[in-house]
Amino acid sequence: MNRFDAVVIGAGAAGLFCAAQASQRGLKVLLIDHAAKLAEKIRISGGGRCNFTNRDAGPANFLSDNPHFARSALARYSSADFIALVQKHRIAFHEKHKGQLFCDDSADQIIQMLLRECEAGGVTRWQPCTVNEVDRADDGGWQLQTDRGPVQAPQLVIATGGLPVPKIGASDFGLRLAERFGHRLVAPRHALVPLTFAAADWAPFVPLAGIALPVEIRCGAPAVGKKTRGSGEVSFHEDLLFTHRGLSGPAVLQISSFWRPGQPLRLNLLPGVDLLALLLKAKQQSRRQLGNELGSLLTQRLADTWLAIQGLDGSQAMPQVPDAQLRQLATSLQDWQLMPAGTEGWHKAEVMAGGVDTKDLSSQTMASKRQPGLYFIGEVVDVTGWLGGYNFQWAWASAFACAEAL
Ligand code: FDA
Repeated sequence: MNRFDAVVIGAGAAGLFCAAQASQRGLKVLLIDHAAKLAEKIRISGGGRCNFTNRDAGPANFLSDNPHFARSALARYSSADFIALVQKHRIAFHEKHKGQLFCDDSADQIIQMLLRECEAGGVTRWQPCTVNEVDRADDGGWQLQTDRGPVQAPQLVIATGGLPVPKIGASDFGLRLAERFGHRLVAPRHALVPLTFAAADWAPFVPLAGIALPVEIRCGAPAVGKKTRGSGEVSFHEDLLFTHRGLSGPAVLQISSFWRPGQPLRLNLLPGVDLLALLLKAKQQSRRQLGNELGSLLTQRLADTWLAIQGLDGSQAMPQVPDAQLRQLATSLQDWQLMPAGTEGWHKAEVMAGGVDTKDLSSQTMASKRQPGLYFIGEVVDVTGWLGGYNFQWAWASAFACAEAL
């Protein structure tokens, strides 16, 4: 029988960091992962450069049924702590946008850093290795049947992540195990995901595929745990990308975590501009055609396609365009309301919202309140970050809180 002080299942961001921290505190730690390749999600993250944290990460950047749950762990292991670790390992990085920190070279540097940290503590890693059964041992600890033999440990950490991207190892192992041991779940949902539209609704917009522009996007808010405006809406100022099937880009990924089926989205394609006032002024002062006037504010391709969708003649000289048409145009661009049909699903979602209900976990240690010696960390827990390095910060922070308690 192999005996360890703690077994961590899932060698992704949270599992690697937790195993490293716990082992460096003197524990004998076994880290198990069923995937052939190590930490593929880190490798593909941030376009291959891993947006490993956000300088400004705080509880307001996370969604959860309990918006206060993440507070303690994020305070005890902050983005500054992870930045210090990255600097200690001499990994060069840069800030791209709104506090988002990326490796200069490659996401693999973060994986190698985590491996070195595990080696420093003497972590044993079995990978690939399948866990076939998890049960209580006679001594009250845990007993695992794996395809490398049986294992016992008093402490078991579940770090098997969320459901996105099943082809690189995502599984519902953590969710099933949680339920089996009496935990409630918050229904998993696609988050940070492109949104799709009914083919017939989207057909007029297909010629816009590939166009990107900065927008303001908003939708009605769920009950708790998010950036709210006074009106109860959530909004983001980010870039939008038109695709063949719908909308993507940071603006849509951000809002998708808050969007619920049946809710409309509202978009302003020219934020910070009073378009109607500009068009009425141009009508007085400009002899240009409507299409060219709009093309000077948007790209010409977007302007021409948009006018066609609106049934407006872009060749009209500005002085001849009726005010009602200018009003229609301004409203269509600045308060564009549209109803998504769905999302691009688990293959395209960057994260899972929902997961193991935080009501059954300690926010100090990530320990189960239902099963002594059981812990859940990382994405499997109902804590979901915005786009921008927040999800890795949750992985590091929850892993650290757990490792301190093992
Ligand atoms: P993670 O998914 O990292 O690890 C889970 C591990 O458990 C995997 O290694 C898996 O193989 C293993 N596992 C699953 N089932 C198992 C089983 N039955 N038995 C054994 N092992 C099992 N976030 C961010 O902050 N910045 C970014 O730049 C990006 N970029 C990004 C791009 C893309 C394309 C995706 C899909 C996601 C991101 N993310 C991100 C999100 C980020 O990758 C994610 O939130 C973290 O990796 C979550 O860390 P975990 O350790 O919880 O899960």
